[in-house]
Order: sequence, then structure tokens, then C-alpha cells
Amino acid sequence: MAKPSLAELRAALTASETCADDQAWSMPTSYYTDPDLLALERERLFGAEWICLGRADELPNPGDFITFQLCDEPLIAIRGDDGKIRVLSNVCRHRGSIIAKGSGHALRLVCPYHHWSYDRSGTLAAAPRMEPHKGFDQKSCRLPEFACEKWHGFVFTNLSANPPALGPRLQGLDALIRNYHMEEMATRYVVEEVWPVNWKCFIENFMEAYHLSPLHKTTLHPMNPTKLCTHIPAGDAYFGYNAGFSPDLPRSYKGHPDLTDAEATNCVMLAVPPGLVSGCSGDYSSFICIQPEAVDRVRVKMGLMFYGPTWAQKDVDYAVDLFHQYMAEDKEVLTAMMRGLNSRHYNRGPLAQADYEGAALDLARYYSRRMSVP
Ligand code: FES
Ligand SMILES: [Fe+2]
Repeated sequence: MAKPSLAELRAALTASETCADDQAWSMPTSYYTDPDLLALERERLFGAEWICLGRADELPNPGDFITFQLCDEPLIAIRGDDGKIRVLSNVCRHRGSIIAKGSGHALRLVCPYHHWSYDRSGTLAAAPRMEPHKGFDQKSCRLPEFACEKWHGFVFTNLSANPPALGPRLQGLDALIRNYHMEEMATRYVVEEVWPVNWKCFIENFMEAYHLSPLHKTTLHPMNPTKLCTHIPAGDAYFGYNAGFSPDLPRSYKGHPDLTDAEATNCVMLAVPPGLVSGCSGDYSSFICIQPEAVDRVRVKMGLMFYGPTWAQKDVDYAVDLFHQYMAEDKEVLTAMMRGLNSRHYNRGPLAQADYEGAALDLARYYSRRMSVP
């Protein structure tokens, strides 16, 4: 028999599938606080969907790598000698030690424990003093490899065997962001943080415009006020909204020449759930890769990428500083909100119209489609 809290959630999710876009309600407590759901989310969402690990230009040269923990799988994305990025298991084939830490450049991936080493495609290159072992075939030993797909400069992986391609599922979004050419932007800032919040609160917050003017009164409101935001009709594997830029805002750097005037004065706030949100605009863009670690803890890898080679470091620093200012505002309110969501007196509230808070409904609908809550 399902837990009563899950029965309430199931009913809320079912209602979200068919409610009018401007008649939505927030989700019940269990959506944000039930540890059993997290196990299911790891199996059906993070363990089965395409998950963004970062940006391809974090690995510009053969041998460059980044590491990433996806559910229970330690991963390494490395650019091979053939120029291709591969996503490999970061677990040593000898006795399971973790091979690489952080990010860097390697001629070979060398496990720190007994120095087994792997080439840049994941094939075992050397296993010291192992020749006498007759039952072990060094030549066929390699690190397991996972699916990898690039999309607008983002690197995605998928832990399923032979998953359907990501690109075709995001076609509706392609048309909206193509002219920004995020794949040409240079990632000049990346940082990892752990926030004491449920991962869905993090996505809802990043993807809703309702709080931009009140919470970010001095940081984002002068640039992207709530009133200039409009909802983008969601696809099966994405959702988003347009955050218009205030017309009186001076913009020092231009974006790609393909941009229309409307695109040049807009930021496409996009989500490829469950693991990526991004603010895509002409001069520079942001991205956040999202990994739940507990029901109330999420690891986020956040970055900023800039269009064109002319960005002065002081202007990059200014953008980074502004980013941290408004993210700190979000972090404070979300951290407090987790206490609210655990209260026995928390109750579902009405969501603002789709232009302002449609992402919360879009995420619930996506969740309902993929999760089949028991
Ligand atoms: S566990 Fe990696 S070399 Fe032994
Ligand atoms: Fe915010």
C-alpha cells in the first residue's frame, strides 16, 4: 500500500497534467522531502535521462578531463587523441579505486592505488607486475564507456545502454536558442557548490520569473524585471521562459550577428531536466548542472560563458560577482524554504500565471510523465 503522502503527491501530479496553465498549485511536502522518492528519482530520472556534465570547451585538448559523480557512478569525461570526448567509468578495473580527481590534463589516466594506467580512450595501457596472472587478459580490459552527446556546447551523458538520441528531443528548443550560438561561447568561470535544498526547489527557483523583481530587487530586477517575462510552451524534454532585458540597460558586448533584435534583448531561460538549467543570452550565458545528493542537499556545478574574444577580465569578474550576488539571494531564501516545506502547516499554494511561475507546473508535468509515482 502506498504511503499516504505519496498518494497525495500522485493525485497532485495527475491534476497537474490536465489543469489549465494558469490554474496550477504548488506540490505537496513529499515532493520535496520524501527520501524514498529520491531513490526513485535516481533510478528513473538521473539514472536514465541525458545528464549534462559541463561544457565541451572545459576539455579543449586531447587528454583534458573533468570528473563527475552521477548517482552512484563516478564518471570521467576525457577528450581522446582522436579529438572525441568520451564519458568513461572513473572506477579502476583492478580493485575499484577512483582513478582521477577534479579536472586536469593527462597523458594516461593513472590509478593512484597500484598505478594501473589507462589510455585516453579508456583501454588499459599498463598493469604493473600483473604478467604472471594467467586468467587476466590485459588487452581486453578497459573502462566502461557511456553514451555521450554534445548539444550547443554542452556535454551530456546517459547511464542507460543505447539510449535514444538527445538532440531530436530538444528540437523545439533548438529553434529558440540557435542564433545565440552558445557552442561558440567561451566558458571562463566554473564553480561547484552544495546547497541544502531539494534539487526540484533549485530548478523551480532558477526557472521562475515571479521572484526576479521582489527577491532580486537590486541585482536582477533592473536587468530582467518580472513583468518582461513570458512563458515558452514546454516540450517533452525541456521547458523555459523568455526573460526580456530592460530597454534602458546599457549592454557593452554584442552577441552573435545572427541574433535578431528581439533575441538580442532577451534571455532564454531553459531547462533540460533533470540535470541542466541555463540562462542563454547574446553577450554571455550561464549554466548549472544539478545533482541531488540527498533529499535536502544538491550539488551544483555553475558556470558562465562569454560570446566573442573581446571580453576584458574585469568585465568577466563583474559578471561573476553579479551572478554570485543573486545566487546568494536565492540560496538564502531556498535554505529557509526547506524548513517551511517540512512544516506540518505547509499547504499547497496557487501558482502565479504561466509567464511568471509556469516552470513549476512544467517541472511537475515532466516529473509526472517520467516518474510514475507508486
Ligand atoms: S585499485 Fe587501481 S590500481 Fe589497484
Ligand atoms: Fe533567483
